[in-house]
Amino acid sequence: MSHSDHNTPGHNNTDTDSLLNHEYDGIRELDNPTPGWWHAIFIATVLFSAVYYLFWEHSEFAWSEHDIHKKAQVAEYKRFFGELGDLSPDTPTMTMLMQRAEMMAIAESMYITNCAQCHAKDGGGINGVNLTDDHYKSVKAMPDIFTVITQGAGNGAMPAWRTNFSENERVLLAAFVASLRGRTPAAPRAPEGEVIPPWDAAR
Ligand code: HEC
Repeated sequence: MSHSDHNTPGHNNTDTDSLLNHEYDGIRELDNPTPGWWHAIFIATVLFSAVYYLFWEHSEFAWSEHDIHKKAQVAEYKRFFGELGDLSPDTPTMTMLMQRAEMMAIAESMYITNCAQCHAKDGGGINGVNLTDDHYKSVKAMPDIFTVITQGAGNGAMPAWRTNFSENERVLLAAFVASLRGRTPAAPRAPEGEVIPPWDAAR
C-alpha cells in the first residue's frame, strides 16, 4: 500500500471543509458528527425506559403486571360463579360442586387459608374438630355444614364466617368440608359428637 492512499480521506469524499486540521503519519481525519437519526433513536430509548419504569415497576397511578394479574383473577372468579348463578345451600348443589374438580380447588385454597389452622390441612383437626370422621357435633346433613360455617358454633370457638364470605363461597366451602369426610388424615383428632348417616341418605 502506497503512502498516497492514506492521504486520500474517504472514497469519493471531496468534502474538504470537514477535513480536520491534523495529520498523523499521513492519516487525515474527517469531522464526521454522529448523524441526527442516531441521536433520535438514542433519545427515544431513554424516554421509553423512563415511561416503562414508571408504568411497569413503580406506578400506583397506572397499570402494572401485578394489577393485570389480580384483575384477571377476579374476573375469572366472577365468571366461575356467574356461570353457576346463586348457589343454594342444599345437598344436590353441594354434591354437584363436589364433583367439579376446579370448584374444589378454589374451595380448598379458601379452606387452607382460613380453616386449616384449626381443622388441619387434611381435615384431621387441631383445636377445631376432626372433619373426616363420621362423628359431628352440630351437623346431621350437608346443609348443616353451611349453617355452622355461616353462624359459627361452640360459643365462638368455631367463628362465624357470614361477613367474611359471600353465600356462594360458603356453599362452596361447605361442599369442600363434606368432601373431607372419609379421608384418612395424618394425625386425626379423636371423634366428637354423634355418628350421622352417610351424606346421600341424609337429604
Ligand atoms: C379458631 C379455630 C377455628 C377456625 C379458624 C375454624 N374452625 Fe371450624 N370449628 C372450630 C371448633 C372449635 C369447632 C367445634 C365447635 C363446637 O364445639 O361445636 C368447629 C366446628 C366446625 C364445624 C362443625 C363440625 C361438627 O362436628 O359439627 C364445621 C363444619 C367447621 N368447623 C368448618 C370450618 C370451616 C369451613 C372453617 C373455615 C372457613 C373453619 N371451620 C374455621 C374451630 C375453628
